[in-house]
Amino acid sequence: MASGAHLGFGPLLLRYVSLVLVASLRRVTAGRLSPAACDLFNGSWVYDESYPLYDSESCPFNRREFDCLRYGRPDKLYLKYRWSPNGCDLPRFDGRDLLRRWKGKKIMFVGDSLSLNQYDSLLCLLHAAVPNGKTSSTDTGTLKTVTFEDYNVSVMYYLSHYLVDIVREKIGRVLKLDSIQGGRVWLGADVLIFNTWHWWPTRGPSQPWDFIQDGNKILKDMDRNEAFSKALATWARWVDSNIYPATTQVFYQGISPSHYHGQDWGGSYRESCSGQRQPLNASTYPAGPLPEQAIVKNVLRTISKPVYLLDITLLSLLRKDAHPSKYNGVHFQNDCTHWCVAGLPDTWNQLMYAALVS
Ligand SMILES: *[C@@H]1O[C@H](CO)[C@@H](O)[C@H](O)[C@H]1NC(C)=O
Ligand SMILES: *[C@@H]1O[C@H](CO)[C@@H](O)[C@H](O)[C@H]1NC(C)=O
Ligand SMILES: *[C@@H]1O[C@H](CO)[C@@H](O)[C@H](O)[C@H]1NC(C)=O
Repeated sequence: MASGAHLGFGPLLLRYVSLVLVASLRRVTAGRLSPAACDLFNGSWVYDESYPLYDSESCPFNRREFDCLRYGRPDKLYLKYRWSPNGCDLPRFDGRDLLRRWKGKKIMFVGDSLSLNQYDSLLCLLHAAVPNGKTSSTDTGTLKTVTFEDYNVSVMYYLSHYLVDIVREKIGRVLKLDSIQGGRVWLGADVLIFNTWHWWPTRGPSQPWDFIQDGNKILKDMDRNEAFSKALATWARWVDSNIYPATTQVFYQGISPSHYHGQDWGGSYRESCSGQRQPLNASTYPAGPLPEQAIVKNVLRTISKPVYLLDITLLSLLRKDAHPSKYNGVHFQNDCTHWCVAGLPDTWNQLMYAALVS
Protein backbone atom coordinates (compact mmCIF):
# COMPACT_ATOMS: atom_id res chain seq x y z
CA MET A 1 0.00 0.00 0.00
CA ALA A 2 0.97 3.61 -0.17
CA SER A 3 2.04 3.56 3.42
CA GLY A 4 4.56 6.32 2.92
CA ALA A 5 1.83 8.54 1.59
CA HIS A 6 -0.52 7.74 4.40
CA LEU A 7 2.18 8.47 6.90
CA GLY A 8 2.82 11.82 5.35
CA PHE A 9 6.17 11.20 3.71
CA GLY A 10 5.17 13.17 0.64
CA PRO A 11 2.19 15.40 0.02
CA LEU A 12 2.50 15.01 -3.76
CA LEU A 13 2.57 11.28 -3.55
CA LEU A 14 -0.40 11.51 -1.24
CA ARG A 15 -2.37 13.52 -3.75
CA TYR A 16 -1.47 11.03 -6.45
CA VAL A 17 -2.49 8.12 -4.29
CA SER A 18 -5.77 9.77 -3.40
CA LEU A 19 -6.50 10.21 -7.09
CA VAL A 20 -5.72 6.58 -7.76
CA LEU A 21 -7.94 5.55 -4.88
CA VAL A 22 -10.78 7.69 -6.13
CA ALA A 23 -10.22 6.45 -9.65
CA SER A 24 -10.52 2.90 -8.45
CA LEU A 25 -14.10 3.76 -7.43
CA ARG A 26 -13.03 3.91 -3.80
CA ARG A 27 -12.99 0.19 -3.86
CA VAL A 28 -12.21 -1.26 -0.48
CA THR A 29 -9.27 -3.34 -1.39
CA ALA A 30 -6.61 -4.69 0.86
CA GLY A 31 -5.01 -1.31 0.40
CA ARG A 32 -3.77 -2.36 -3.01
CA LEU A 33 -3.10 0.36 -5.48
CA SER A 34 -2.65 -1.96 -8.38
CA PRO A 35 -5.27 -4.56 -9.20
CA ALA A 36 -2.50 -6.98 -10.10
CA ALA A 37 -1.05 -6.87 -6.60
CA CYS A 38 -1.49 -9.84 -4.33
CA ASP A 39 -4.54 -10.07 -2.09
CA LEU A 40 -2.97 -10.63 1.32
CA PHE A 41 -6.27 -11.82 2.77
CA ASN A 42 -6.90 -14.69 0.38
CA GLY A 43 -4.78 -17.73 1.11
CA SER A 44 -4.41 -20.67 3.44
CA TRP A 45 -2.66 -21.76 6.62
CA VAL A 46 0.56 -23.74 6.30
CA TYR A 47 2.57 -25.55 8.92
CA ASP A 48 5.79 -23.68 9.78
CA GLU A 49 8.31 -25.18 12.17
CA SER A 50 9.78 -21.72 12.93
CA TYR A 51 6.52 -20.52 14.51
CA PRO A 52 5.40 -19.06 16.91
CA LEU A 53 7.08 -15.67 16.47
CA TYR A 54 7.84 -15.42 20.23
CA ASP A 55 7.56 -17.34 23.45
CA SER A 56 4.35 -16.16 25.10
CA GLU A 57 5.63 -17.15 28.51
CA SER A 58 8.31 -14.48 28.37
CA CYS A 59 5.86 -11.74 27.38
CA PRO A 60 5.20 -9.56 30.43
CA PHE A 61 2.18 -7.98 28.77
CA ASN A 62 0.16 -11.08 28.03
CA ARG A 63 -3.24 -10.91 29.71
CA ARG A 64 -4.97 -13.71 31.60
CA GLU A 65 -7.74 -13.77 29.01
CA PHE A 66 -5.38 -14.80 26.23
CA ASP A 67 -2.48 -16.60 27.89
CA CYS A 68 -3.56 -20.12 26.93
CA LEU A 69 -0.31 -21.96 27.63
CA ARG A 70 -0.03 -20.54 31.14
CA TYR A 71 -3.60 -21.64 31.86
CA GLY A 72 -2.97 -25.18 30.83
CA ARG A 73 -3.58 -25.58 27.13
CA PRO A 74 -1.84 -28.91 26.44
CA ASP A 75 -1.60 -28.89 22.61
CA LYS A 76 0.78 -26.57 20.78
CA LEU A 77 0.18 -27.29 17.12
CA TYR A 78 -2.04 -24.20 16.92
CA LEU A 79 1.09 -22.08 17.38
CA LYS A 80 2.74 -23.51 14.29
CA TYR A 81 0.72 -22.10 11.44
CA ARG A 82 1.73 -19.31 9.11
CA TRP A 83 -0.73 -17.45 6.92
CA SER A 84 0.23 -17.91 3.29
CA PRO A 85 -1.52 -15.55 0.86
CA ASN A 86 -2.18 -16.94 -2.61
CA GLY A 87 0.44 -15.56 -4.92
CA CYS A 88 2.81 -13.77 -2.52
CA ASP A 89 4.57 -14.06 0.81
CA LEU A 90 3.76 -12.09 3.89
CA PRO A 91 6.86 -10.21 5.04
CA ARG A 92 8.21 -11.62 8.27
CA PHE A 93 7.35 -9.42 11.22
CA ASP A 94 10.34 -7.25 12.20
CA GLY A 95 9.58 -5.58 15.52
CA ARG A 96 12.72 -3.42 15.59
CA ASP A 97 11.98 -2.13 12.12
CA LEU A 98 8.45 -1.30 13.20
CA LEU A 99 9.66 0.50 16.32
CA ARG A 100 12.06 2.55 14.18
CA ARG A 101 9.31 3.45 11.73
CA TRP A 102 7.04 4.41 14.60
CA LYS A 103 9.65 6.41 16.53
CA GLY A 104 7.94 9.15 18.56
CA LYS A 105 4.47 8.00 17.53
CA LYS A 106 1.30 6.93 19.23
CA ILE A 107 -0.44 3.81 18.00
CA MET A 108 -3.99 3.44 19.29
CA PHE A 109 -6.39 0.52 19.13
CA VAL A 110 -9.99 1.59 19.62
CA GLY A 111 -12.71 -0.98 20.13
CA ASP A 112 -13.88 -3.96 22.15
CA SER A 113 -11.92 -6.88 23.59
CA LEU A 114 -10.99 -8.11 20.11
CA SER A 115 -9.01 -4.87 19.81
CA LEU A 116 -7.50 -5.65 23.20
CA ASN A 117 -6.57 -9.06 21.80
CA GLN A 118 -4.64 -7.52 18.88
CA TYR A 119 -3.11 -4.86 21.16
CA ASP A 120 -1.87 -7.57 23.50
CA SER A 121 -0.33 -9.51 20.64
CA LEU A 122 1.39 -6.38 19.31
CA LEU A 123 2.88 -5.67 22.73
CA CYS A 124 4.25 -9.23 22.89
CA LEU A 125 5.64 -9.00 19.34
CA LEU A 126 7.38 -5.68 20.04
CA HIS A 127 8.64 -6.87 23.41
CA ALA A 128 10.12 -9.96 21.77
CA ALA A 129 12.03 -7.67 19.39
CA VAL A 130 13.55 -5.62 22.24
CA PRO A 131 13.35 -7.92 25.27
CA ASN A 132 15.71 -5.77 27.31
CA GLY A 133 14.23 -2.46 26.24
CA LYS A 134 12.78 -0.10 28.80
CA THR A 135 9.00 0.13 28.92
CA SER A 136 6.56 2.10 31.04
CA SER A 137 2.82 1.72 31.27
CA THR A 138 -0.28 3.52 32.46
CA ASP A 139 -3.87 2.35 32.74
CA THR A 140 -6.83 4.63 33.40
CA GLY A 141 -9.39 1.89 32.88
CA THR A 142 -10.58 3.29 29.56
CA LEU A 143 -7.11 3.95 28.17
CA LYS A 144 -4.15 1.64 28.52
CA THR A 145 -0.70 2.69 27.32
CA VAL A 146 2.61 0.90 27.06
CA THR A 147 5.56 3.02 25.94
CA PHE A 148 8.69 1.48 24.46
CA GLU A 149 10.98 4.15 25.89
CA ASP A 150 14.03 3.58 23.71
CA TYR A 151 11.95 4.40 20.65
CA ASN A 152 9.38 6.62 22.36
CA VAL A 153 6.64 4.52 20.78
CA SER A 154 3.35 4.41 22.70
CA VAL A 155 0.97 1.57 21.99
CA MET A 156 -2.48 2.31 23.38
CA TYR A 157 -5.83 0.66 23.81
CA TYR A 158 -9.00 2.72 24.18
CA LEU A 159 -12.00 0.66 25.25
CA SER A 160 -15.10 1.39 23.18
CA HIS A 161 -17.64 -1.35 22.64
CA TYR A 162 -19.66 0.46 20.01
CA LEU A 163 -17.42 3.36 18.82
CA VAL A 164 -20.51 5.56 19.16
CA ASP A 165 -21.45 6.94 22.61
CA ILE A 166 -23.48 5.53 25.45
CA VAL A 167 -24.84 8.44 27.51
CA ARG A 168 -26.55 8.18 30.88
CA GLU A 169 -29.77 10.20 30.75
CA LYS A 170 -32.90 10.44 32.91
CA ILE A 171 -34.58 7.55 31.11
CA GLY A 172 -31.49 5.33 31.40
CA ARG A 173 -28.41 4.52 29.32
CA VAL A 174 -28.83 5.63 25.72
CA LEU A 175 -26.77 4.22 22.86
CA LYS A 176 -26.50 7.16 20.46
CA LEU A 177 -26.03 6.00 16.90
CA ASP A 178 -25.23 9.54 15.72
CA SER A 179 -22.68 10.63 18.29
CA ILE A 180 -18.93 10.10 18.79
CA GLN A 181 -17.87 12.36 21.65
CA GLY A 182 -15.34 9.73 22.71
CA GLY A 183 -13.42 10.53 19.53
CA ARG A 184 -11.68 13.51 21.10
CA VAL A 185 -9.17 11.17 22.74
CA TRP A 186 -8.41 9.34 19.50
CA LEU A 187 -7.18 12.46 17.74
CA GLY A 188 -3.84 12.38 19.51
CA ALA A 189 -2.82 9.16 17.76
CA ASP A 190 -0.66 8.76 14.64
CA VAL A 191 -2.03 5.32 13.81
CA LEU A 192 -5.60 4.30 14.67
CA ILE A 193 -6.95 0.76 14.44
CA PHE A 194 -10.72 0.59 14.94
CA ASN A 195 -13.07 -2.29 15.54
CA THR A 196 -16.63 -2.87 16.69
CA TRP A 197 -19.09 -5.69 16.18
CA HIS A 198 -19.27 -8.22 18.96
CA TRP A 199 -21.45 -6.16 21.27
CA TRP A 200 -24.08 -5.28 18.70
CA PRO A 201 -26.05 -8.55 18.99
CA THR A 202 -25.75 -8.63 22.81
CA ARG A 203 -29.08 -8.76 24.67
CA GLY A 204 -30.15 -9.41 28.23
CA PRO A 205 -28.38 -8.38 31.42
CA SER A 206 -24.98 -7.83 29.80
CA GLN A 207 -26.36 -5.36 27.25
CA PRO A 208 -24.84 -2.08 28.48
CA TRP A 209 -27.62 0.25 27.28
CA ASP A 210 -31.38 0.65 27.79
CA PHE A 211 -32.41 2.68 24.72
CA ILE A 212 -31.13 3.39 21.24
CA GLN A 213 -31.23 6.90 19.84
CA ASP A 214 -31.48 7.01 16.04
CA GLY A 215 -31.74 10.60 14.82
CA ASN A 216 -34.35 12.14 17.12
CA LYS A 217 -36.13 8.84 17.74
CA ILE A 218 -35.58 7.08 21.06
CA LEU A 219 -36.22 3.35 20.65
CA LYS A 220 -36.33 0.43 23.05
CA ASP A 221 -34.60 -1.68 20.41
CA MET A 222 -34.12 -2.02 16.67
CA ASP A 223 -32.64 -4.39 14.11
CA ARG A 224 -29.11 -4.88 15.34
CA ASN A 225 -27.43 -5.04 11.95
CA GLU A 226 -29.19 -1.83 10.98
CA ALA A 227 -27.98 -0.20 14.19
CA PHE A 228 -24.45 -1.48 13.56
CA SER A 229 -24.53 -0.12 10.03
CA LYS A 230 -25.77 3.31 11.16
CA ALA A 231 -23.15 3.56 13.92
CA LEU A 232 -20.41 2.57 11.52
CA ALA A 233 -21.65 5.26 9.11
CA THR A 234 -21.36 7.78 11.95
CA TRP A 235 -17.81 6.62 12.52
CA ALA A 236 -17.12 6.92 8.78
CA ARG A 237 -18.27 10.55 8.85
CA TRP A 238 -16.10 11.10 11.92
CA VAL A 239 -13.07 9.81 9.98
CA ASP A 240 -13.86 12.04 7.02
CA SER A 241 -14.21 15.16 9.13
CA ASN A 242 -11.44 14.56 11.67
CA ILE A 243 -8.59 12.61 10.11
CA TYR A 244 -5.77 14.36 8.29
CA PRO A 245 -4.23 11.53 6.24
CA ALA A 246 -0.81 13.15 5.98
CA THR A 247 -0.32 12.66 9.71
CA THR A 248 -2.71 9.92 10.76
CA GLN A 249 -3.14 6.48 9.34
CA VAL A 250 -6.41 4.63 9.88
CA PHE A 251 -7.01 0.90 9.87
CA TYR A 252 -10.26 -0.96 10.35
CA GLN A 253 -9.81 -4.33 11.98
CA GLY A 254 -12.37 -6.45 10.14
CA ILE A 255 -14.82 -8.70 11.93
CA SER A 256 -13.27 -11.35 14.13
CA PRO A 257 -15.41 -14.49 14.05
CA SER A 258 -16.41 -16.93 16.82
CA HIS A 259 -16.57 -20.74 16.66
CA TYR A 260 -19.45 -22.09 18.75
CA HIS A 261 -21.29 -24.07 16.06
CA GLY A 262 -19.48 -27.04 14.55
CA GLN A 263 -21.90 -27.30 11.67
CA ASP A 264 -20.49 -24.00 10.35
CA TRP A 265 -17.24 -25.75 9.43
CA GLY A 266 -18.60 -29.16 8.60
CA GLY A 267 -18.38 -30.55 12.13
CA SER A 268 -21.24 -31.77 14.31
CA TYR A 269 -23.62 -29.30 15.91
CA ARG A 270 -22.35 -30.20 19.39
CA GLU A 271 -18.77 -29.22 18.54
CA SER A 272 -17.29 -25.85 19.44
CA CYS A 273 -13.73 -24.55 19.42
CA SER A 274 -13.03 -26.71 22.47
CA GLY A 275 -10.60 -29.50 21.64
CA GLN A 276 -9.95 -28.25 18.08
CA ARG A 277 -6.28 -28.72 17.31
CA GLN A 278 -5.92 -27.75 13.68
CA PRO A 279 -7.11 -25.06 11.29
CA LEU A 280 -9.33 -25.83 8.34
CA ASN A 281 -7.09 -26.73 5.46
CA ALA A 282 -8.97 -24.60 2.94
CA SER A 283 -9.21 -21.17 1.34
CA THR A 284 -12.93 -20.83 1.95
CA TYR A 285 -15.16 -21.34 4.97
CA PRO A 286 -17.95 -23.91 4.61
CA ALA A 287 -20.62 -21.60 6.12
CA GLY A 288 -19.53 -18.75 3.84
CA PRO A 289 -18.74 -15.17 4.79
CA LEU A 290 -20.47 -13.38 7.67
CA PRO A 291 -23.27 -10.99 6.66
CA GLU A 292 -21.62 -8.24 8.70
CA GLN A 293 -18.55 -8.29 6.47
CA ALA A 294 -20.65 -6.75 3.73
CA ILE A 295 -21.87 -4.04 6.10
CA VAL A 296 -18.28 -3.11 6.95
CA LYS A 297 -17.23 -3.03 3.30
CA ASN A 298 -20.26 -0.99 2.27
CA VAL A 299 -19.59 1.62 4.93
CA LEU A 300 -15.86 1.78 4.20
CA ARG A 301 -16.70 2.49 0.56
CA THR A 302 -18.40 5.72 1.58
CA ILE A 303 -15.24 7.13 3.24
CA SER A 304 -13.11 9.42 1.12
CA LYS A 305 -10.10 9.41 3.46
CA PRO A 306 -7.84 6.37 3.08
CA VAL A 307 -8.78 3.59 5.50
CA TYR A 308 -7.01 0.28 5.27
CA LEU A 309 -9.25 -2.70 5.93
CA LEU A 310 -7.45 -5.48 7.76
CA ASP A 311 -9.73 -8.04 6.21
CA ILE A 312 -9.07 -10.74 8.78
CA THR A 313 -12.43 -12.51 8.77
CA LEU A 314 -11.78 -15.36 6.34
CA LEU A 315 -8.33 -16.23 7.66
CA SER A 316 -9.72 -16.17 11.20
CA LEU A 317 -12.78 -18.24 10.27
CA LEU A 318 -10.36 -20.98 9.26
CA ARG A 319 -8.83 -20.99 12.79
CA LYS A 320 -11.36 -22.88 14.91
CA ASP A 321 -8.28 -24.20 16.78
CA ALA A 322 -6.93 -20.82 17.88
CA HIS A 323 -9.37 -19.80 20.66
CA PRO A 324 -8.65 -20.13 24.38
CA SER A 325 -11.72 -22.33 25.10
CA LYS A 326 -11.33 -23.14 28.82
CA TYR A 327 -7.61 -22.30 28.93
CA ASN A 328 -7.81 -18.75 30.23
CA GLY A 329 -7.35 -17.05 33.57
CA VAL A 330 -10.69 -15.24 33.73
CA HIS A 331 -12.97 -18.24 34.21
CA PHE A 332 -14.60 -18.16 30.81
CA GLN A 333 -15.82 -21.75 30.58
CA ASN A 334 -15.50 -21.99 26.83
CA ASP A 335 -14.20 -18.86 25.13
CA CYS A 336 -14.53 -19.38 21.38
CA THR A 337 -14.57 -15.62 20.71
CA HIS A 338 -11.14 -14.36 21.74
CA TRP A 339 -7.83 -15.83 20.61
CA CYS A 340 -4.76 -17.24 22.30
CA VAL A 341 -1.66 -15.02 22.44
CA ALA A 342 0.76 -16.07 20.99
CA GLY A 343 -1.46 -17.14 18.13
CA LEU A 344 -3.81 -15.81 15.51
CA PRO A 345 -3.69 -12.07 16.43
CA ASP A 346 0.04 -12.15 15.66
CA THR A 347 -1.00 -12.72 12.05
CA TRP A 348 -3.35 -9.72 12.19
CA ASN A 349 -0.35 -7.64 13.30
CA GLN A 350 1.83 -9.19 10.63
CA LEU A 351 -0.75 -8.09 8.08
CA MET A 352 -0.76 -4.58 9.54
CA TYR A 353 3.03 -4.59 9.32
CA ALA A 354 2.82 -5.74 5.71
CA ALA A 355 0.46 -2.85 4.98
CA LEU A 356 2.92 -0.40 6.50
CA VAL A 357 6.07 -1.63 4.80
CA SER A 358 4.94 -2.72 1.35
C1 LIG B 1 -8.66 -16.52 -3.83
O1 LIG B 1 -7.62 -17.04 -4.64
C2 LIG B 1 -8.05 -18.15 -5.43
C3 LIG B 1 -6.82 -18.74 -6.10
O2 LIG B 1 -5.96 -17.73 -6.58
C4 LIG B 1 -9.11 -17.67 -6.41
O3 LIG B 1 -9.56 -18.73 -7.20
C5 LIG B 1 -10.29 -17.10 -5.62
O4 LIG B 1 -11.23 -16.54 -6.49
C6 LIG B 1 -9.81 -16.03 -4.66
N1 LIG B 1 -10.92 -15.68 -3.79
C7 LIG B 1 -11.26 -14.41 -3.56
C8 LIG B 1 -12.40 -14.22 -2.61
O5 LIG B 1 -10.71 -13.46 -4.09
C1 LIG C 1 -3.56 -29.34 3.26
O1 LIG C 1 -3.93 -30.28 2.28
C2 LIG C 1 -2.96 -30.47 1.30
C3 LIG C 1 -3.54 -31.35 0.20
O2 LIG C 1 -4.37 -32.34 0.73
C4 LIG C 1 -1.71 -31.10 1.95
O3 LIG C 1 -0.71 -31.31 0.98
C5 LIG C 1 -1.19 -30.13 3.00
O4 LIG C 1 -0.12 -30.70 3.70
C6 LIG C 1 -2.31 -29.79 3.99
N1 LIG C 1 -1.81 -28.70 4.82
C7 LIG C 1 -1.91 -28.72 6.13
C8 LIG C 1 -1.37 -27.50 6.84
O5 LIG C 1 -2.41 -29.61 6.77
C1 LIG D 1 7.93 11.26 22.57
O1 LIG D 1 6.92 11.38 21.60
C2 LIG D 1 5.93 12.33 21.94
C3 LIG D 1 4.87 12.25 20.84
O2 LIG D 1 4.30 10.99 20.85
C4 LIG D 1 6.54 13.70 22.06
O3 LIG D 1 5.56 14.63 22.43
C5 LIG D 1 7.66 13.67 23.09
O4 LIG D 1 8.32 14.92 23.10
C6 LIG D 1 8.65 12.57 22.77
N1 LIG D 1 9.58 12.44 23.88
C7 LIG D 1 10.88 12.31 23.67
C8 LIG D 1 11.71 12.14 24.91
O5 LIG D 1 11.40 12.31 22.57
